Amino acid sequence: MSARLAGKVAWISGAASGIGAATAKLFAAEGATVVIADVCEDEGRQLVSEITATGGKAGFSPCDVSNSEQVQASIDSTAAQFGGPDIVVNCAGIVHVGLLHEYPEDDWDHLMGVNVKSIYFSLVHAFPHFQKKRRSYIVNVGSISSHVGQRSTPAYTTSKGAVLSLTQSIALDYAAIGLRCNCVSPGITDTPMLREHLNTASDPDEVLRQRVRRVPMNRAMQPDDIARSILYLSCEDSAGVTGTSIVVDGGYLAAAEWDTADDSLSGVDNT
Ligand SMILES: NC(=O)c1ccc[n+]([C@@H]2O[C@H](COP(=O)([O-])OP(=O)(O)OC[C@H]3O[C@@H](n4cnc5c(N)ncnc54)[C@H](O)[C@@H]3O)[C@@H](O)[C@H]2O)c1
Repeated sequence: MSARLAGKVAWISGAASGIGAATAKLFAAEGATVVIADVCEDEGRQLVSEITATGGKAGFSPCDVSNSEQVQASIDSTAAQFGGPDIVVNCAGIVHVGLLHEYPEDDWDHLMGVNVKSIYFSLVHAFPHFQKKRRSYIVNVGSISSHVGQRSTPAYTTSKGAVLSLTQSIALDYAAIGLRCNCVSPGITDTPMLREHLNTASDPDEVLRQRVRRVPMNRAMQPDDIARSILYLSCEDSAGVTGTSIVVDGGYLAAAEWDTADDSLSGVDNT
């Protein structure tokens, strides 16, 4: 087993499900002690059992990332129990579908709290711990909508644009303490969040097939595809990389227009 993260402690928000859960498993396999910070306690504790059953080190911390006191308590208890953290992954996120003229103000504030303000809170509360480290890492999970607009999700796309801007600000302001801050921007990724969204359609599989035609690699990303880039940005494999975004989208953003049905070549299995 390789151990890129041996001796490191990683606090990962939103790690009870999807991309965060894949990241927690990968980090534990790479030798890190992982703290799963999430509002979903049952799923989070289940994942801790899975990781520890395979010899990994993990703990669960109940935490609503939109609440500064809860983020502070979660990060401080991580430090007290395991040391660190050396790595903070801000993965918790929510999406709302709806047009702006009908969008409730409370929903706007809640989504911004979970997707954006949470990053500010995690920096504030991890900072005293980062200051004691020679190297520290923040990886924020953005989206392809950190880079382009997407219809019917105005608060979400705004929040993901802000995730990238905040990533750049943190990278500049804290490079001097050895903190590198980067963003991973997933494309269409097969997680419970995506499934919940698709399940509002009468034929979710058909909707996914149609959406994936827009992806040059002709498949949805898997949570582990995203986790691997988060790992890269959380260790010295990415030495020198800060304030940037890695887009993991199967080529989605590379094309202004795309329909896989028009491909002149075929036959390669991209899974
Ligand atoms: N799935 C996709 O297609 C996709 C694409 C681009 C970006 N993303 C981003 O990836 C990240 C992870 O999404 P996912 O697809 O794995 O979703 P998911 O729904 O499977 O996981 C999200 C996790 O965040 C947790 N969470 C939600 N609100 C929280 C809060 N207030 N405090 C703490 N935890 C909270 C949930 O309980 C859940 O465990 C999100 O930031 C999302 O915006 C996902």
